[in-house]
Amino acid sequence: MLFISLFVIFAVIFLIAFQHIFSVSKSPGKEKIPGARPSNSRDGNKPDIAAAGNIHNYLLDLHGKYGPLASFWYGPKYVVSIASPELFMEHHVRMTSNRPPDMMEMLGILFGSNAIQFAKTDDAIRRRELYDHTLRHETLTHFYPTFNKVARETVQALSGIPEGTRIPLVHHCIDMSIKGIVRTCFGDYFKTEEAVDHLREVWTACWNELELLQIKGPPKPGSKRDKTFKKDLASIKTLGPKMIQHRRDNPCFLEYQTFIDALLEDELPEEQMHDDCVGFLIGGLQTVGIWTFWALYFLASSPDCQEKLYLNVIEAVGQGDVEDMNHEDLRYVGQVIKETLRLSVLSTYTCRYHDDDFELAGHVLKAGTTTVHAIGVVMEDPVLWPDPSKFDPERFDIHRMTARQKRAFKPFGFAGQRTCPGQHFAKLEAAVFIAVLCRAFKFRLVKGQSVKKNYGLITRPDCEVWVTLEKRK
Ligand code: HEM
Repeated sequence: MLFISLFVIFAVIFLIAFQHIFSVSKSPGKEKIPGARPSNSRDGNKPDIAAAGNIHNYLLDLHGKYGPLASFWYGPKYVVSIASPELFMEHHVRMTSNRPPDMMEMLGILFGSNAIQFAKTDDAIRRRELYDHTLRHETLTHFYPTFNKVARETVQALSGIPEGTRIPLVHHCIDMSIKGIVRTCFGDYFKTEEAVDHLREVWTACWNELELLQIKGPPKPGSKRDKTFKKDLASIKTLGPKMIQHRRDNPCFLEYQTFIDALLEDELPEEQMHDDCVGFLIGGLQTVGIWTFWALYFLASSPDCQEKLYLNVIEAVGQGDVEDMNHEDLRYVGQVIKETLRLSVLSTYTCRYHDDDFELAGHVLKAGTTTVHAIGVVMEDPVLWPDPSKFDPERFDIHRMTARQKRAFKPFGFAGQRTCPGQHFAKLEAAVFIAVLCRAFKFRLVKGQSVKKNYGLITRPDCEVWVTLEKRK
């Protein structure tokens, strides 16, 4: 009797569990989208993402197994990931502007929930209309002198160091990137070296902690790690109010509008101004620095490309300022920065969710479904980019690029009004930094280093990278 009762209980439990797993793994569309079964109904595939080390590696594996349209479970949420130029095109047309906050929770901790990154369609578009022109071409032409100056200051500082000395490359690139964004977009709040140093320190500590949070989970309340993070985070959070107050007290009238002045002009709610201040500051803080770093690292590893870039800069601008990055003459510099973005996979994915049911590749997906844009997976696709782990700027020669490659290369996102507002700013700044630095020095990697990519919030090297410099005559 006892045996029969136990058998019935186990059978019922088994049936309920089976039904549950089956029901959560069923795609809500007409046809099932191939993809991963959840490890369990609460965590979905989060344990598999953790086991892969990061979401980029997980997506590479997922698409490798199931093709360009594949599904997985982020916690209890059903997610569809797309990884082909054709699906990018199709989804672009059906795009909404909302991002699912749960897939960006780390950034939320840093920026604050009022930041534009989390704004919904109408609000986001209104704010983008207000801010975008401060980072567009007409305004950017005013930034060339600052970017050239920042790069020349770095050249001057490095020139004072005896040749053959080991130089921390990441450190110097981040420094330039911080100076570039604060001097052009945030007034003169960070006018001293000390203010820039302080920003770099708290910022680096916070970023490291956020990446640790993703891997190891939250620190023990009251532990040293917990206290340090709270202190550094509080320091970042006070930046928005301080920068805004400083600008109110020190208005400055320029022939163009800076980002911080655009914020002040529209009388937005204070919390929103603070969070957008931090969101844009952080958006631009280290992206360009890490991009510049990867370019110099790849060039140091490929002396022929470094020489070609040097000749391109000398022929195009001589020893003068770089004043028009879009100019045909600086074509090779442009190819190098694009190939760097591709190979470093600086930004691995972005995402959206839909308020209404929608159709994708013949599947009907329910409202609320999250769509991941696996832009990093596509940038490493060997069919599109033969020998994808090779640094080869010739891929981006406009006469050689295929239409499919052009549709595939979307490092700043492809989704209409919510693509990166800082992309033109970033391209221009990175190009000036790389051109000016490579004109002054030959970069050589210190031997014996093994540099790995850390696919975190952005793709960084897993440690400082050391180079030696030879002055160009
Ligand atoms: C190498 C440099 C950069 C890369 C690879 C990059 C990449 C991205 C990506 C992939 C997105 C998401 C786009 C989407 O969801 O469709 C994004 C959004 C954003 N980026 Fe960038 N970014 C870079 C530089 C910058 C800079 C310099 C700034 C600021 C000056 C910036 C500010 C932002 C902001 C505010 C958003 C959110 C926009 C919105 O929600 O509408 N980014 N970026």
